[in-house]
Amino acid sequence: MILVTQSIAVIEAGQGTNGAYVACPSYSSYNYCWFRDGTFIAVAMDRWQKHESARRFYDWATALVVARADGIERCLENVAQGRPLNPADLLHTRYTLDGRQGDEDWPNFQLDGFGTLLWGLQHHMQLTDPPTMPSVWARAANLLVRYLAALWQRPNSDCWEEFSDQIAVSTLAALYAGLHAISAAFEANGQDATLALDTARQIKAFLLGSGVRDGHLIKQIEGEDVVDASLLWASVPFQEHSFLQPSDPVMQATVARIEQDLVGKTGGVHRYAKDTFYGGGEWVLLTALLGEYYTATGNLTGGQRCLAFVEASANEQGHLPEQVSRAPLHPEYVEHWLGCWGPVACPLLWSHAAYLSLSAQVRESGL
Ligand code: BGC
Repeated sequence: MILVTQSIAVIEAGQGTNGAYVACPSYSSYNYCWFRDGTFIAVAMDRWQKHESARRFYDWATALVVARADGIERCLENVAQGRPLNPADLLHTRYTLDGRQGDEDWPNFQLDGFGTLLWGLQHHMQLTDPPTMPSVWARAANLLVRYLAALWQRPNSDCWEEFSDQIAVSTLAALYAGLHAISAAFEANGQDATLALDTARQIKAFLLGSGVRDGHLIKQIEGEDVVDASLLWASVPFQEHSFLQPSDPVMQATVARIEQDLVGKTGGVHRYAKDTFYGGGEWVLLTALLGEYYTATGNLTGGQRCLAFVEASANEQGHLPEQVSRAPLHPEYVEHWLGCWGPVACPLLWSHAAYLSLSAQVRESGL
């Protein structure tokens, strides 16, 4: 329980009065709020009854989307007219803590976080049961559904902010989950859910056709026969909104490949085999995610093992890093990254959130 309390404290300290969560307070490139990280953090806070913190994040994120409605409409108009997209109209994946687009060069076109956000909004409403969806949330959700319906087939950077010329299978898994979840929220709110549901169905059919090789999911649509640990998003943490159930044979085969190729020497999970960021260490949040998968399938020993790995990764202050570099895949790159950006980001709020989510799930499973 000590690390649970500490994780909540780290997250609360990293949330601004406007609701934004900083990705990592002590790592300058991460002095931003990402839709991806932010939503996973809000979901974890909701799982530990910190609903007010989560609501403030969602208020921040939805207001930011609504404030960019003109750009979204221009983008949709370009798609409808078959014209090229103007990068200035695209929604960025991360914002400064006061809600501005960053000036640094960054791969800003990433779609997964918007799917994750839609899922998070529905998750929060399901837990807190407001009489109706707040109007700004409904407006933002509508804009995002139309934006994603228009753009999901375009290459965009993956959740690791790489491979901008590809479509990552995990990105589409997040989009499916978000569109599926928000369609349930729209229906409960008396709104038309057709576009969200139809797009989710198209994504699922496309994934099962172009995202599977030899019975398992692959990292990129029609890409090489390799896996990425973010493929776990196909079944966790999106629960009933996942496009594959944990027991689905395709999911089981995918996890078997992840175990074979990406579970590291010290029991943590690497992102993908060719990862060179800080040498490609074992990621705390991915290990927690694998723990969620194990717990969801009744493998309680596996869940406990992952939980123990995460707990052992905390430093003396009870801070969790982004990755653990004890046994990197490509040690020759460690020095390079230390020279570029300094030590690995710590505390990473998303790592703490992943720990909170896994511990909540383990607790709920009665372990
Ligand atoms: C990761 C992203 C993450 C960001 C902030 C990047 O290095 O690849 O997934 O959103 O850090 O935590």
